[in-house]
Amino acid sequence: MYRKTNRSRIAAGIFAIAIVTPQHTFARPPQGDIASVARERANTVVSQMTADEKVVLTHGIMPLPLAGPLPDLPADATPGAGYVPGIPRLGIPSLRETDASLGVSYVMGLRHDGATALPSGVAQAASWNSELMYRGGAMIGSEARSKGFNVLLAGGVNLMRDPRNGRTFEYLAEDPLLSGMLAGAAIRGVQSNNIISTIKHFALNGQETGRKFVDVKISDAAAFESDLLAFKIGIEQGQPGSVMCAYNRVRGEPSCASDWLLNKVLKKQWGYQGFVMSDWGAVPGIVASIKGLDQQSGEQLDSAVFFGEELKAKAATDKAYAQRLDDMNTRIITAIFAHGLDKGALKSGSPIDFNANAKVAEEIANQGIVLLKNNGALPLAKSTKTITVIGGYADGGVLAGAGSTLVHGEQGPALSRPVFGKGVWAGFISEQYHRSSPLEAIQSVAKDAKVFFRDGRYIADAVEKARQSDVVIVFATQWTTEGLDVPDLSLPNGQDELIAAVAAANPRTIVVLETGGPVKMPWLENVAGVVEAWYPGVRGGPAIAAVLFGDINPSGHLPLTFPVDESQLPRPKIDGSDWLEPDFAGNPPTPESKLVANYDIEGSDVGYRWFARTRQKPLFPFGYGLSYTTFESSDLKLSKRSLTFKITNTGRRAGADVGQVYLVRRNGETKQRLIGYARVDLQPSESKKIKVDIDRRLLADWRDGYWELPAGDYDFALGESAGQLSTSVRMKFKAARWTD
Ligand code: BGC
Repeated sequence: MYRKTNRSRIAAGIFAIAIVTPQHTFARPPQGDIASVARERANTVVSQMTADEKVVLTHGIMPLPLAGPLPDLPADATPGAGYVPGIPRLGIPSLRETDASLGVSYVMGLRHDGATALPSGVAQAASWNSELMYRGGAMIGSEARSKGFNVLLAGGVNLMRDPRNGRTFEYLAEDPLLSGMLAGAAIRGVQSNNIISTIKHFALNGQETGRKFVDVKISDAAAFESDLLAFKIGIEQGQPGSVMCAYNRVRGEPSCASDWLLNKVLKKQWGYQGFVMSDWGAVPGIVASIKGLDQQSGEQLDSAVFFGEELKAKAATDKAYAQRLDDMNTRIITAIFAHGLDKGALKSGSPIDFNANAKVAEEIANQGIVLLKNNGALPLAKSTKTITVIGGYADGGVLAGAGSTLVHGEQGPALSRPVFGKGVWAGFISEQYHRSSPLEAIQSVAKDAKVFFRDGRYIADAVEKARQSDVVIVFATQWTTEGLDVPDLSLPNGQDELIAAVAAANPRTIVVLETGGPVKMPWLENVAGVVEAWYPGVRGGPAIAAVLFGDINPSGHLPLTFPVDESQLPRPKIDGSDWLEPDFAGNPPTPESKLVANYDIEGSDVGYRWFARTRQKPLFPFGYGLSYTTFESSDLKLSKRSLTFKITNTGRRAGADVGQVYLVRRNGETKQRLIGYARVDLQPSESKKIKVDIDRRLLADWRDGYWELPAGDYDFALGESAGQLSTSVRMKFKAARWTD
């Protein structure tokens, strides 16, 4: 039996026991019929195509002013990430593509419209809630459709191999089960709108430094048990119409021309029937088509248009290319039909209920905020007389991550600070804040309090005000962006010094973090509470205030490990960060430059698995998150195919907990893996029984093209987090071997 906190006690009288089957049951959603009908229709269309028509769907532009003014766009194109013309004669619509997984991106205001910004990917994932991921996906997909898009470049599922990765905020988790299940749910939501979602970036796109040329070294076993498993689960659960390949190289080949990744694994081994689109500017040449790439995206960013006239000419003389070209078209058209892109006219400018959509974003923020520390000061009393809010532009808004995912509301950002680059990239890479002021939200919850604000630039002044206040709330930010990794995990701009000084002046100091991922907390011992709000989206302000004052009982759990410092990570520095200049594009400084990232160091032991293997104690473990009530997980029982356990709310408030079950040892050897989880809402004293099906891939090793389950003793434990585990329960498994 495991107790969540030492304050917890077993409640007298459990009054309800219900069996809850959590969202992840590993049932693979039915796709067979729709996919095979779509494929048959696609075959018929392809048989009617002329040679010219066969190279229409295979490449497209980025309808943005990349170098100079906006190019003349076809009548049905709208500024966004991509445009691929249709073939009206054959009833094939154009593909109108927009980023990304946090909402319809703003593309520097060129469309003169706004959209609803979800919290960052890591914030969404901290909910551990597939149903909510689905709703978020459905909402942003509906906005994409209303703005005239039929492809959403969502589904970022790369595992967080390094918390310094500039795109950590976009991705979901460091664990393949959690990442895959949540990405799959979001993709299903997006595609419920008769649009296609991608899953991306396939694969092993684990760092932004030198992203266009870094070569990832990884063994088969390590790849299949980690990043590839996340993609596999995401594809099974979400059935995305398209897979976007990545910028980086894998084992010497560019991902978008990797025979191993695209032909052998994705299409042959996994039987994927949709199409592979390139990342923007990631196509090395026409040979990529033979290696499994089906569509060249954002072609102005490549050195040439390879999949147009050049491919047509090649297909006219080379049978292998001719066959490939038919297959490329079949796959693209199958996805178009399977996801209903040919149904109903696509009209930009359809009305959007921004209020209703913002509520979805707020719900996700409510469930994704993680309470990391509470010495009893939280929740704050609404009757608090004086509150000083410091830093983080908390008077204006909440921070957003930068790059292609950046979404703006109708009025644009509350604040935009150019950070990096010139020309067009400067528009993508600036520090921006959504219009959702935590300061205003705090004042509207604590109506009678005197609420002061200091921007934090002058420490002595902030300290003086802190000393005069009952409570201090410091907002600390770590801005991160696509294209650039952070050099280390410290809070930038002297914020650590500010927090330490303020905490020394007032012991009732609460730190609210708006970060892309983990940061170091040298002041942790001296503050009363820490709330990880991530980049909390369009309603971040009210969500933060609701958690601080207890209107929302925090329930988020970390989807990645927070290390004490960088020395605990598999690599002391991100490969290349010591000799490459920061560069959004990530190109090599000279054509001969080489950069290798050796992922065999940690292999498939990403995140908490690395910490278990190396017996290190992180600052906050994967799966960790506090609540204003207490829970107890107990009664773990196992069978070959499923496991059950019970969660009880042992405190006095209603709340939600995330029950977690881990494999902890196999035949006596430490081997930690998340096997199942469930998020449950519980009234005080209520219990729920959870049943989780076991996915054997999570217990197995990948060896010589098979999943292999060694015979022997498997020990499982309940976990409040990956770092706080119950006594284990043993189960014997017989040896087994299977393909996917
Ligand atoms: C990013 C993709 C994005 C694409 C289109 C690339 O730089 O890596 O995630 O979808 O641009 O904007």
